[in-house]
Amino acid sequence: MKVLVTGGAGYIGSHVVRLLQERGDSVIVADDMTAGIEARLDGAELLQLDLAAPDAKSILAQTFTDSEVDAVIHFAARKQVGQSVEMPEFYYEQNIGGMANLLSAMHATGVEKLVFSSSAATYGMPDVPAVSEDIDCKPINPYGETKLIGEWMVANAKRAWGLRGANLRYFNVAGAGWPDLADTAVANLVPIVFAAIRANKNPVVFGDDYDTPDGSCVRDYVHVLDLAEAHLSALDYLDFDVRPHDTFNVGTGQGSSVFEVLAEIKAVSGIDFDTDVLERRAGDPPFLAADVSRIEKALGWKAKKNLHDIIESAWNA
Ligand SMILES: NC(=O)c1ccc[n+]([C@@H]2O[C@H](COP(=O)([O-])OP(=O)(O)OC[C@H]3O[C@@H](n4cnc5c(N)ncnc54)[C@H](O)[C@@H]3O)[C@@H](O)[C@H]2O)c1
Repeated sequence: MKVLVTGGAGYIGSHVVRLLQERGDSVIVADDMTAGIEARLDGAELLQLDLAAPDAKSILAQTFTDSEVDAVIHFAARKQVGQSVEMPEFYYEQNIGGMANLLSAMHATGVEKLVFSSSAATYGMPDVPAVSEDIDCKPINPYGETKLIGEWMVANAKRAWGLRGANLRYFNVAGAGWPDLADTAVANLVPIVFAAIRANKNPVVFGDDYDTPDGSCVRDYVHVLDLAEAHLSALDYLDFDVRPHDTFNVGTGQGSSVFEVLAEIKAVSGIDFDTDVLERRAGDPPFLAADVSRIEKALGWKAKKNLHDIIESAWNA
């Protein structure tokens, strides 16, 4: 199979590129390289392109035809929540404009299969212990909105021209499947704590007075290699004629608190450090974990790695 992976030079995309190549699929990566790293590509062909650029649709369509592409996995997106609040137009332009170009090019050339990187940010602040895909999505920032609109675009293309799409709503992604594919952006808890340790500073905890067992926020951490495997299962699922669902949570179903993550980092690194507890951040739900029953049943996928595996692989990388 020939797969075009947008954002394939990024943290998660590069893991999927490697798994696809290992199973014998051939891969083209479309990435503007603003956050991508070429060394992650393992020799996969690179189409350097901003998906939101005016000529992106025709360049993608040409690539689909020339390279006989069978399926697309769409990671390319801007993903910083805070930046999306400050620059909403840029996020709409990039994430939605880029996806519109991609879907138009797929439609024009008859490429029918798409796996889309969605996010638990689509849910907003759900007040339930385990979030199922069926609850009302109420994103609370432009980033989450662009992901929800992306899912609507998938549903509309399905109705209009028969797109076969799967939306994967990732929970908190961390770890490294291979040391050279580490998450180098200091945007998520684990890399933020590592950066603080390196700089000899105390990691910061936002709020220790939540209604959770130890007072800190609880999240569902999923290993990036498990998540990458879910994309291969989703691609295979798109070949089924009967597909009861298009949207799937990807998590472990287990929550870990910020203090538990910090304790695991201390245990794995052998470094003891203090933490600075600050006020709660606006928009942080106390508890966010996935109900993973749908993905287990429909895709036969289940996370295999735990918090220790995540922290150990990230630290070694
Ligand atoms: N990392 C997480 O915890 C997480 C959680 C939920 C969802 N997601 C989603 O997963 C996807 C991948 O995330 P990641 O952590 O690997 O991020 P990343 O920034 O490492 O990778 C994104 C890649 O897309 C490229 N890109 C961005 N905008 C582009 C554009 N307009 N045209 C072409 N290329 C573009 C970047 O250069 C980068 O290589 C994103 O869609 C993100 O929203 C990530």
